[in-house]
This record gives sequence, structure tokens and C-alpha cells, in this order.
Amino acid sequence: MKNSNIVLTGFMASGKTTVGELLSDITGKKLVDTDLLVEERAQMSIREIFEREGEPRFRELERLVVGEVSGGEGSVIALGGGAVVDPENVRRLREKGVIYLLDVSPGEVARRAGDDSERPLLGEKRRDIEELMRARLDAYRRAADVIIDTTGREARQVAATIAGDFEARESGEEGSK
Ligand code: S3P
Repeated sequence: MKNSNIVLTGFMASGKTTVGELLSDITGKKLVDTDLLVEERAQMSIREIFEREGEPRFRELERLVVGEVSGGEGSVIALGGGAVVDPENVRRLREKGVIYLLDVSPGEVARRAGDDSERPLLGEKRRDIEELMRARLDAYRRAADVIIDTTGREARQVAATIAGDFEARESGEEGSK
């Protein structure tokens, strides 16, 4: 399909936003960040939504936002790390998009995120990260059209790889969408 969306998924701190910004520069597509849209809609930060209204409410808002952005075309969509756990989100995103999984190791997440107080689900302990990652592994793999190993790679390289793959698909060189 022409003018599809480039959809970025992956664990927290896998680089979705940074890679999304670079991809937006490379492709000229608009960057859409579902976490930001959720915050706009709720008029609260993600942390506040979790604290005051709980994770189920956050997921509800996320589902709404994903439903809206997946209906559009020609964007780079950076998802929150848990969005693809819901198969309905994946089904919608795939209708007009290619889903790229930014694969990252637990150690790398711990290193990149530090003590990130804006990520309610990211405990400081590496064991928490490993556990949550393991629980999500199947969902991530199922959701991904393409898995990109980001370990030891700069965001710029990751963005270039995705841009190249996407362009090839759009010009029909590879299994077109
Ligand atoms: C979450 C990831 C966060 C944000 C929320 C929940 C998750 O986004 O949506 O804190 O469940 O993995 P990032 O992946 O951009 O940190």
C-alpha cells in the first residue's frame, strides 16, 4: 500500500521517540507520538494518569488514540511500549502501516532509562525490566512485521535501516503492503 504509516514499537527506552524523530526528518512524514496524544487528551502526564486513574484508564485512552492515528496515512507513529499487547491495536495499526519492533536488551533499557520517574512501569530494578519484557515477548514478536536489533547501534543507523526497508516495500521491491 502506498503512503502507509511507519509504526514503531518496542520496550520502554528502546528508542522509539528518537528514531521516530529521525525517521520523520528522513521521510518527511509527520511524527505522531501516542503517549503525547494520550497526555493531551487527559490533560495530565502519563505518570498522573497512572497515579490518579490507574493503568486500565491509561490503556483505554491509548486504545482510543491508536484507533484514531491508525486510520490516518503517511505518518511515523511512535507507540507507547505497551500498546501492542492489545491485539486490537495491532490489527488496526497493521491496516495502513508497517510495524517495526525496536529490539533491545534488558541491560540496555536499564542503562538508557536510568531512574526515569516519568515511566511508571519501569522500576529501578533490572529484574523488573526482565520480567515485564519476558511477559511481553510474544506480543512484540506477533505484532512485528520487521524486527530491528538496536543493540550497540546508534539511533541514526536504526532510522536509516527502517527508512530503507520501508522505501523498498513502498516501491514494491519487497513483499508489498
Ligand atoms: C508503557 C510505556 C510508556 C507509556 C506508559 C506505559 C508500557 O511509553 O506508554 O508509561 O506499558 O510499556 P514508552 O515506551 O514511550 O516509555
